[in-house]
Formats: sequence, structure tokens, C-alpha cells
Amino acid sequence: MRVLLTGANGQLGRCVQDVFAASGHELTAFDRLALDISNSESVNSVVGKHCPQVIINAAAYTAVDKAEAESELAAQINTVGAANLARAANDIDALLIHISTDYVFDGRKTTPYVETDATNPQGVYGQTKLAGEQEIQHHCSKHLILRTAWVFSEYGNNFVKTMLRLGKERDALSVVDDQVGCPTYAGDIARACLSVCEAAEAGQAKYGVYHYCGGEAVSWYEFASIIFEQAVAKGLLPKMPSLAAITTEQYPTPAVRPAYSVLDEARFLSDYGASPLKSGEAIRVCLERLAND
Ligand SMILES: NC(=O)c1ccc[n+]([C@@H]2O[C@H](COP(=O)([O-])OP(=O)(O)OC[C@H]3O[C@@H](n4cnc5c(N)ncnc54)[C@H](OP(=O)(O)O)[C@@H]3O)[C@@H](O)[C@H]2O)c1
Repeated sequence: MRVLLTGANGQLGRCVQDVFAASGHELTAFDRLALDISNSESVNSVVGKHCPQVIINAAAYTAVDKAEAESELAAQINTVGAANLARAANDIDALLIHISTDYVFDGRKTTPYVETDATNPQGVYGQTKLAGEQEIQHHCSKHLILRTAWVFSEYGNNFVKTMLRLGKERDALSVVDDQVGCPTYAGDIARACLSVCEAAEAGQAKYGVYHYCGGEAVSWYEFASIIFEQAVAKGLLPKMPSLAAITTEQYPTPAVRPAYSVLDEARFLSDYGASPLKSGEAIRVCLERLAND
């Protein structure tokens, strides 16, 4: 299939290119310079020229804390950009695969969030992403919105890479232990996108909102512990830093984050069958790639 990728330089964008390289699909990847999704003329021109059958939108404003002070810019990318792509995809009857976030929820549930649960974002980032979802639902009949969470990979900036850097710089670290989520390897999300493309090619794609995240729920503190254990075992760090579990209150941030944002991915697994790696295994794959860099 002809697939157009936005946000090619982001961590998901890079993983999509890796995964699609051997897939037989014709992927054309655009970074922000080549295609600014917030510019409708540019979106229409690029989409019109390439006429893709599938668009994967991996472009987003992802600076959760900075978004509190840059709400217009975040909305321009996450909401207006999503709307631009939705209209352009609809005009040529393309399928739009759009990535969204667990931050559309307020985190007050105690059991995994399903797609039909009420949304209630707590910060600007989540609000602009939710508004982007709504634009897509309104303007594009063939859309698949994939909500994911706590994304990490060997590329870009993410929690795994931050922990490795801090683990080298410091002997002791404090990590929040009262926020629970599912770390998700960007390579798995890329494979999920590939499954959707393959279903679309077979005329079996199903549309709507789906949840997709790494298999195990952990706190940031537990996630950090697994990263450090594996990093030491692989020789990426000389020794484990001493880790202290702290509360969200002890680590205030500009944006409020959901305390519990575990996503139930049963619907995606049933319709598309592409299950992610378990967190420990995904971290192992990511660290191995970092070690080989
Ligand atoms: N990271 C997470 O923990 C997380 C969690 C849940 C959901 N998600 C969602 O997953 C998706 C992928 O996230 P990610 O972690 O791969 O993000 P990322 O690494 O920050 O990549 C986002 C990419 O979008 C590009 N971009 C920003 N504004 C753009 C614009 N106007 N036009 C075109 N490209 C633009 C950025 O370009 P530059 O490189 O030039 O900045 C960057 O390459 C996003 O939709 C995000 O909301 C992420």
C-alpha cells in the first residue's frame, strides 16, 4: 500500500520507518520540515501529490509540561494539525491512523480504561490531543485513533533514556511511585500500525478508537527499577543507583498527570491481533539497540 508518514523524526516516526522497511509497503516519510501538519496548504499539497492509501500521523506536540505555557502552539499541532490531515485523508478516501494518548483520561479509575470510558483530560496536552481526536472523528470517515501510553524507544527523548543518563550522573535518584501506567515500546506501536495497514489491504480494516499499550502496569518507580537492573546486566551502567520511591506531591510538575492510566487493549487485540511485548522484554529490546549504537 502507499503509506504516508508524518512526524518522521520522532521516536514513533523512526520506529515506523524501521518496521515498514521490510514490509513491502511503499512508505514515504515526512519530517516537520518537509510537512508541517499545522499548515493546511502544505498538508493538502503533499497528500494530493502522493495520494496515499494510508496516512500514519506520528507528528505531535508532546512536551506535556511546556504545553501548559504554550497552549496555542500545542493546539495548532495536536488539534488543527489533526483536523488538516483528517480533511485531506477524507478527500482522497485514505485511512488515517492517528496516535493519541492515555492523558485524555483523568486517571481516577482503578480498572483499565476502555475506549468508551468518559474522557476528562487534566492538562493542555491531553485537551489538545482529545480535541484532535474529535476533529478526526468529525472530518474523516476512515480513521483509526490509537491511544497509547508511556512511549519509549532507542530514539528521541523518553523515560528510559532519561533514566540511563541520570543513572550515569547520580548515585541516588527519587522516582514517583503513585502514578501507574503501561510503558509501551514505540516499535510495538509501529507493528500495530503495520497490522492495520495489512488489514486495510485485505479489505478488513475496522475503524474507530482503540487502546494499545505495553502489557504490564507499573509505576514510574517500578519502571525505573526494571530499566536499571537490565542496564547494569547489559553493561550500559556500571552500577545500580540507589532508588527512592516518592509521591507525586513530592515531585510537582506544571501539568497534572493521571494517577492511573492503564489502557485495556482487548478491542485492538481482538480486531487486529498484534500484541505488544511485555514491558521487561520490550525494555530488553530497547536497551540492546542502545547498547549496539
Ligand atoms: N511519548 C509518549 O510518552 C506518548 C504517550 C502517549 C501518546 N503519545 C503519542 O504518540 C505519538 C508519537 O509520540 P512520540 O513519542 O514519537 O513523539 P516525539 O518523539 O515527540 O515525536 C513527535 C514528532 O512530531 C514532530 N512534529 C511536531 N510538530 C510538528 C508539525 N507541526 N508538523 C509535523 N511534525 C511535527 C516533531 O518534530 P521535531 O522533531 O522537529 O520536534 C517530532 O519529530 C504522538 O501522537 C504522541 O502524542 C506519546
